[in-house]
Amino acid sequence: MEPKALLEKSFAEGIALTFDDVRLRTGYAEVMPDDVSLSTKFSKNVGLKIPIVSSPMDTVTGGKLAIELAKLGGIGVIHRNLNPEEQARQVSRVKHHLNGLIERPICVYEDETIADILERKRKKGYAFHSFPVLDRAGKLVGIVTGNDFEFCDDDCKFVSNLMTQKPLIAPESTTMEQAYEIMKDRKKKALPLVDFSGKIVGMYVFTDVRRIMKDDAKFHNIDSKGRLRVGAAIGVKEDAFVRLKLLVKENVDVVVIDTAHGDSINVLDTLRAIKRAYPDLDVVVGNVSIGESVRRLIEAGADGIRVGQGPGSICTTRIIAGVGRPQLSAVYDCAKVADSYGIPICADGGLKTSGDIPIAIAAGAHCVMMGSMLAGTDETPGETVFFKGRQWKSYRGMGSISAMQENKGARERYLQEDSTGKDQLIPEGVDGLVPYKGRLSDVIFQYVGGLRHGMGYVGAASIQELREKGEFDRITDAGKTESHPHDINITKEAPNYPTSE
Ligand code: IMP
Repeated sequence: MEPKALLEKSFAEGIALTFDDVRLRTGYAEVMPDDVSLSTKFSKNVGLKIPIVSSPMDTVTGGKLAIELAKLGGIGVIHRNLNPEEQARQVSRVKHHLNGLIERPICVYEDETIADILERKRKKGYAFHSFPVLDRAGKLVGIVTGNDFEFCDDDCKFVSNLMTQKPLIAPESTTMEQAYEIMKDRKKKALPLVDFSGKIVGMYVFTDVRRIMKDDAKFHNIDSKGRLRVGAAIGVKEDAFVRLKLLVKENVDVVVIDTAHGDSINVLDTLRAIKRAYPDLDVVVGNVSIGESVRRLIEAGADGIRVGQGPGSICTTRIIAGVGRPQLSAVYDCAKVADSYGIPICADGGLKTSGDIPIAIAAGAHCVMMGSMLAGTDETPGETVFFKGRQWKSYRGMGSISAMQENKGARERYLQEDSTGKDQLIPEGVDGLVPYKGRLSDVIFQYVGGLRHGMGYVGAASIQELREKGEFDRITDAGKTESHPHDINITKEAPNYPTSE
């Protein structure tokens, strides 16, 4: 990234700037907003189709939001105010959502009875009805589907009496698109894949494949096996390893060491130990706001850096501890160091409107992490409440008194894991409500639209070009007032401009 004149100058003067201090300058454009490329990275090996990551907070990212965000091209980081088993279950939900290819289908044997299978289904909680049937040598000999169970009048019958013999099969190399056409043509609900010896090596199920094909899959942020990508937050020391064991088993794409002060000995030691134990797993680390901290983390193995100390909408760290750095200068300082190692930067917190996204990227971020801008959508955990004539959803800091009282992970993030009583805790965040925002897809549509327009004005065809070309003007209070609608009573709420709280 080339040096940014304004940010260099303000550094030299010892002044740190943030979003509202600046606006982007326009530049000569040959690219239209609809044609810009938004693909970028969250970490060394984890890509994004849009530069948006959801924050690991218990009022923001559970499995549901992570699924929707990955389908829109971003990634969700599942929060850690959950026990490790439940967190791994949420990751598994995301990874299995596009169950294109079932790699290890549950099979039954031909000499089992229908009663045996129904009992197993009940006990294990299987919600599906199609089972490949094997002989005792492990060879595929048939298939039973929902209809076979439904029309069976005697549960004592053997599977071999009901199954469809010589089922339709396909070779191991069959793609999801081919499987869809084959099943549609032959009106079959399932398509087992077999290897040269007749052993089953996978299966496609029509209802799943149809759902995936109907979704606009080209926007999905998926891994090399066609599964949605997802991240998960972990703590330090023992917490990290207990979670990692379960998360890795569920094929988590990236973990985030989630602390308020990333440049500290426990984080660095944990990071080194993780990279020794799981060298192939990407680890994003934070939070930091100083270039030198970034260097230490990258030298210790970080695959991505989370920048932000104090900008969050629910954060009181700068007021309670007097510490933190306005976000734009923090991102710039960190990006300069991370760029020299080829490691991506995630600008975390403090974004208020879609216009803050291109600003964060022009300051050096590869992607942004959002809490409040995603809070209040249908997909976040929690119910809507009715208050003062409108609908709201709760949104709270992970260092708020309520989050810390409820969970050790939240206390650990703020280095207070052994304090439990309300009187013993020093919160660095607040509890609150945000306006109900409706569907995540509508909200992201506006954010991505704003970013595209910003890139069009700057003349940047890609995220990297925006990082290179974006230059800032410092604005004054008068400039800020001028930037917002003024001298008018707004009579219609715009979907991308907050008018009332
Ligand atoms: P927002 O997008 O401005 O709402 O900021 C969200 C970010 O604030 C998160 O991703 C965290 O980095 C940070 N954060 C979350 N909870 C707290 C807290 O209680 N105190 C300080 N920062 C917090």
